[in-house]
Amino acid sequence: HAAEYVFTDISAHFLHRAQEKFADDAFVSYRTLDLERAPLEQGFEAGEFDLVIAVNVVHATADIARSLAHLSSCLAEGGMLVLREVTEPQAWLDLSFGLTPGWWGFADAPLREHGPLLDPAQWERVLREQGFEPALATAEAGRTESVMVARR
Ligand SMILES: C[S@@+](CC[C@H](N)C(=O)[O-])C[C@H]1O[C@@H](n2cnc3c(N)ncnc32)[C@H](O)[C@@H]1O
Repeated sequence: HAAEYVFTDISAHFLHRAQEKFADDAFVSYRTLDLERAPLEQGFEAGEFDLVIAVNVVHATADIARSLAHLSSCLAEGGMLVLREVTEPQAWLDLSFGLTPGWWGFADAPLREHGPLLDPAQWERVLREQGFEPALATAEAGRTESVMVARR
């Protein structure tokens, strides 16, 4: 009862799907957010959240460092960012998502030049550059996705 959770996506489609799934959870609200643009220009307040969870979305933006800065602006000092990202290139991803223009929409060389995904070491570096203290990264051998937790 003490928690409020704001589910965001750039796409109304995903918001509607989430609204159906979490219909019984009154503490969840739904808002659009374009991570390419400053959240503070989209009705969010600085330091509004204690925790931000971003699952396989930050890589989908043009400039990872700028997107992390946008997420940081929403977090309270000491707030936590939980990132889950595919951290290992796989041919099937290029052959499926690679057919969409968004997969190739990255524009933040030299960080990314040949594909949209970062490996765990690159994530750690860019998180630190954006003022985060990465606290934990699960990057087990054989796992293609990592969960990274970082404190602002
Ligand atoms: C691979 S899907 C992941 C969806 C969901 N987070 C999950 O894990 O099931 C990528 C998501 O990123 C969203 N997305 C793409 N560009 C975005 C942007 N600029 N701002 C916010 N969300 C974006 C898409 O609408 C899509 O829901």
